[in-house]
Amino acid sequence: MEELERPQPPARMAGAPRSFLLFLLLLSQPRDTSPALSFCSPKLVNGILGESVVLPLDSEAMFKRITWNAPSPCQDAASGRRVHLAVVTPGGPGALPHLAVEDERYRGRVRLHGRTYSLEISNLTMADEGKYEVEKNLIAHNQYKCDYALFIYKRLSEPELRVHPAMAGNGTCNVTFTCSAGERAWHLTYTWTRPAGGAILSTEESLLVQHRLGDEDSPVTCTATNPVSNSSASASPKAACEGPAPPQTPALSYCRAKGILVLGVLGTLLAGILTVHVLAAREQTRP
Ligand SMILES: *[C@@H]1O[C@H](CO)[C@@H](O)[C@H](O)[C@H]1NC(C)=O
Ligand SMILES: *[C@@H]1O[C@H](CO)[C@@H](O)[C@H](O)[C@H]1NC(C)=O
Ligand SMILES: *[C@@H]1O[C@H](CO)[C@@H](O)[C@H](O)[C@H]1NC(C)=O
Ligand SMILES: *[C@@H]1O[C@H](CO)[C@@H](O)[C@H](O)[C@H]1NC(C)=O
Repeated sequence: MEELERPQPPARMAGAPRSFLLFLLLLSQPRDTSPALSFCSPKLVNGILGESVVLPLDSEAMFKRITWNAPSPCQDAASGRRVHLAVVTPGGPGALPHLAVEDERYRGRVRLHGRTYSLEISNLTMADEGKYEVEKNLIAHNQYKCDYALFIYKRLSEPELRVHPAMAGNGTCNVTFTCSAGERAWHLTYTWTRPAGGAILSTEESLLVQHRLGDEDSPVTCTATNPVSNSSASASPKAACEGPAPPQTPALSYCRAKGILVLGVLGTLLAGILTVHVLAAREQTRP
């Protein structure tokens, strides 16, 4: 904000009561009204890597020129230096406004979003992260400025679950699950639930589950969440402690089907044999 021009009171007002200056400052807070310069409250915008983001700008008012500034390409984020990204000028009567992209890095990736003069940036890269600024020059020398902090996150893919079973004696198994979504950790949260979507067991990266050998399985689910997405994976304490379960369900129904078939064949055979015997017996008992 250092480089922003604030309205300078004339020299003879240097001794004006502070309250009057405060009043001037307060007046400058609301959006483009009478004071010469107005600010928005800085906006935080989250973008998704490879996707698009919109830096919002409400603008119905007539304007002379809108200048979008981008973070400096040098890695001196601390300096907060910004460079011209694009300049928007009104089109002729009935024509669309003109957008001139001045920064190579954004060429082919920016356009005006809808009728609002909001700036849409597509194919976001991590390098797009930083502070943006818009300066809107209105007619009658009024100016409006707004700062944006753009953060880029990856859309989370399915987290990886690592499993550490340890026999704790007495037929119990301590199994530790560790969830990892592979992104920078500080903006990631993990929640463990059982069942998926149920009560929260833990919000740590790892979860310790005690499983009694032979007990029912009770899978746990880890959901990784970042500001733009979430993704889940589930794991089974029983499988972790007792080895992968035999392919039960399909095998069972297959066996059952086979059993029924064998029973049916046996039954038919038995009925056949009986019939033959009975018939034979009748034959013999006939005089
Ligand atoms: C944006 O990404 C898409 C898909 O990866 C690609 O086809 C397109 O050329 C990219 N556009 C620009 C301007 O980089
Ligand atoms: C298993 O977990 C319990 C409960 O947290 C703990 O008291 C015990 O020491 C653990 N045993 C082993 C062998 O890790
Ligand atoms: C083993 O488990 C049984 C049943 O829960 C309990 O009564 C017993 O005290 C346990 N023994 C040990 C050594 O932990
Ligand atoms: C997870 O993302 C979905 C959309 O992908 C959203 O509807 C849901 O509310 C999110 N859940 C959490 C806990 O953030």
